[in-house]
Amino acid sequence: MTRALPVVADRLWSDLMALADLTEPDKPFTRRAFSPLFLEGRKFLTDRLQAAGLTTRVDAAGNLIGRLEGEEPFAAVIALGSHSDTVQRGGRFDGIAGVVAALEVARVLKERGERLRHTIEVIDCLAEEPTDFGLSCVGSRGLSGALDHHMLAMTNPAGERLDEAIRGVGGDPNHIADAVRSDIIAFLELHIEQGPVLEATGIDIGIVTSIVGIRRIEIIFEGQAAHAGTAPMDLRHDAAVPAAATLLEVRRVADALALEGGGYFVATIGIVQVEPGSSNVVPRRARLVIDARSSDPDTIKRFSNHIDAFSAAVAADFRVDRSRFLILSDGAASDCDPNLRGTLIRASNQLGLRHVDIASGAGHDAAFMSRICPAAMVFVPCLKGMSHTPDEWADKSAIVGGTAVLLEAVLEIDRTNNALPG
Ligand code: GLV
Ligand code: MN
Ligand code: MN
Repeated sequence: MTRALPVVADRLWSDLMALADLTEPDKPFTRRAFSPLFLEGRKFLTDRLQAAGLTTRVDAAGNLIGRLEGEEPFAAVIALGSHSDTVQRGGRFDGIAGVVAALEVARVLKERGERLRHTIEVIDCLAEEPTDFGLSCVGSRGLSGALDHHMLAMTNPAGERLDEAIRGVGGDPNHIADAVRSDIIAFLELHIEQGPVLEATGIDIGIVTSIVGIRRIEIIFEGQAAHAGTAPMDLRHDAAVPAAATLLEVRRVADALALEGGGYFVATIGIVQVEPGSSNVVPRRARLVIDARSSDPDTIKRFSNHIDAFSAAVAADFRVDRSRFLILSDGAASDCDPNLRGTLIRASNQLGLRHVDIASGAGHDAAFMSRICPAAMVFVPCLKGMSHTPDEWADKSAIVGGTAVLLEAVLEIDRTNNALPG
């Protein structure tokens, strides 16, 4: 780190830690979208945005938006943001680093007292992490017109609908199209890398080149519950067995595809549920959720078709009904905007920060935003690449450096783009 950076490091850090501390006390760091704690986090952010002089609103898709009007009437928008929800037992930084960095950029701009030509928006995108409704990136889908009525009708295990949940955080699902934006000329998202490259190489800033595509698939096997002591092996309809075989097949095929060299590929089964879940009952139902990611849509399709055929066949082998093979969500791989990447490189150079191009294996709101506007991302190093775990950590200097890059980038975009509408 070389120069004095133009953001207020202590203020940024204390907001980050205060928001991270809004966690379920017995399982840090958990602030699930739509939960009371999530709304507490939103209140914290709203207060901070308003204290900084931004106006705030929740849009139809449930995104929290802070706005600093530009000088030009109806000025086009430069948007910055990420998400404030977490996975179960996640980390302190995933998501909120980008939201608090965006808040800090807006605060510094406001304090400088010179209005930008463009309007600046700080966006806390609703529910980036996979929700109990089976959908992720709910808010950024809404902003980009990718939140359809079928998705809004998805239900969680308690039977609540996603549209009701969006209403519960202040959104207006009956007018979901109102959330779609055509006035944003750039979206920038800061995020911890969630991988080991930057730390291992001692580089300050990752300039993201592309974001993987993610397909999530739910598979349900239904058999027949029976007494574990009396049901003969050859007469059982045990739903757990084809589920286990499918899990191993996912691993086998993923290993092969990862080695094949046709682009990045990973697959995970992070949800395995067996019912009724008693040691002395043959399982009647098993549910898996697969998360498959690739830079190449054809590889995801090939994988998905294979697992579809395999799970149906193995279910038949064990006299079980594979009652569901459902693609819960399908986000396409996306490229970050080359012009904005250039802006981020110049900003890093100007601040004396070392940077490197890096592809993202994690999903991000920027992927959906890239459907409606140029979008790009700044990665900052995190400890041993750990993420989605309470061990996740990033140094204050790393977050401050990334935030300074965002600020410089916003200033360049404001100088060099036409702020007039249309
Ligand atoms: C977001 O955290 C993802 O699943 O990549
Ligand atoms: Mn995450
Ligand atoms: Mn994230």
